[in-house]
Amino acid sequence: MADQSSWKEYEDRIAAARSAEELAAIEHEIFSRKSGTMTLALKELQTIAPEQRRTVAQELNEWKKKLEERLENRKKELASPSDESLKRDEAIDVTLELPGKERGHLHLIPEFIRKVEEVFGRMGFDIASGPEIETEEFNFNLLNIPRDHPARDMQDTFWIKSKNQEGRLLLRTQTSPMQVRYMQSHKPPLRVIAPGKVYRKDSDATHSPMFHQFEGLMIGKDITLANMKAVMITAIRELTFPDAEFRFRTGFFPFVEPGLEVDMRWRGDEAESREGRWLEVVGCGMVHPNVLKNCGIDPKKWQGFAFGFGVERMIMIKHQIPDLRSFYQGDLRFLRQF
Ligand code: PHE
Repeated sequence: MADQSSWKEYEDRIAAARSAEELAAIEHEIFSRKSGTMTLALKELQTIAPEQRRTVAQELNEWKKKLEERLENRKKELASPSDESLKRDEAIDVTLELPGKERGHLHLIPEFIRKVEEVFGRMGFDIASGPEIETEEFNFNLLNIPRDHPARDMQDTFWIKSKNQEGRLLLRTQTSPMQVRYMQSHKPPLRVIAPGKVYRKDSDATHSPMFHQFEGLMIGKDITLANMKAVMITAIRELTFPDAEFRFRTGFFPFVEPGLEVDMRWRGDEAESREGRWLEVVGCGMVHPNVLKNCGIDPKKWQGFAFGFGVERMIMIKHQIPDLRSFYQGDLRFLRQF
């Protein structure tokens, strides 16, 4: 005959039931007219010596009431779960081992950004972040790109319809507004990087309407272009390969003077050209005196350099990925390779 522990077990199973079907099956097991454990136990009462019958019957009836009550409550709970029961039933134990061999891991992009923070952290750079919805003022004007400057067309902008007190709003087209934000809130000397998302109306194998950059800025008393090159070369080698192939070219950005671009040898589409080709990965240069002035820094006393890296492009080179759009498609066959 069923004993205390089996009733207790039913009680636990009812509490753990995850669906109405599961609950109905348990109910059947206990109470079905022909073979229910409780039904049989009650029938068996006849066979018990009369002296014991009373206590046993009392006990059984208590369990019967209790289990009926538990079933009823659990039924209601499953039909309209309370916050408490949801927490209990739907909680995901993220520390549980997965059944197969597969383990999750960071996506390529945040993984790379962590590496960036580590590499620049070792060179004494602080880490900052800023808004993706920016003002025209920070994204352009204070960076020496006035309204009718042709350089604005270099970065086709997503404008936002509403404004705030500071003027027109946009999705930042570059992380460079972080140079201004950081210089306005910190006194030189300073060293900082600012990774984050940026947005441009652009889409093909090497452009995406949303992509990641990290900005860098170093301001001091006698910082030169040679210091900038040293930092660029160290970063490129540490973030891709020790023997990475790259070249410096002059480039134009209104907020630096002189400006440079760094290309890296890209073997992403070897099928197309055996030699591979060059892909621009960094824009950099000495911070323009106008920008320093806009941030309340005296360009006669201080100078320095700024740079902006394209995160996806660096990763494409590092892992020989031919199409930048693979980063955002969530295709596990792609993601599992890394
Ligand atoms: N903001 C520039 C771009 O997105 C890159 C850059 C950053 C150039 C800092 C110079 C200095 O193209």
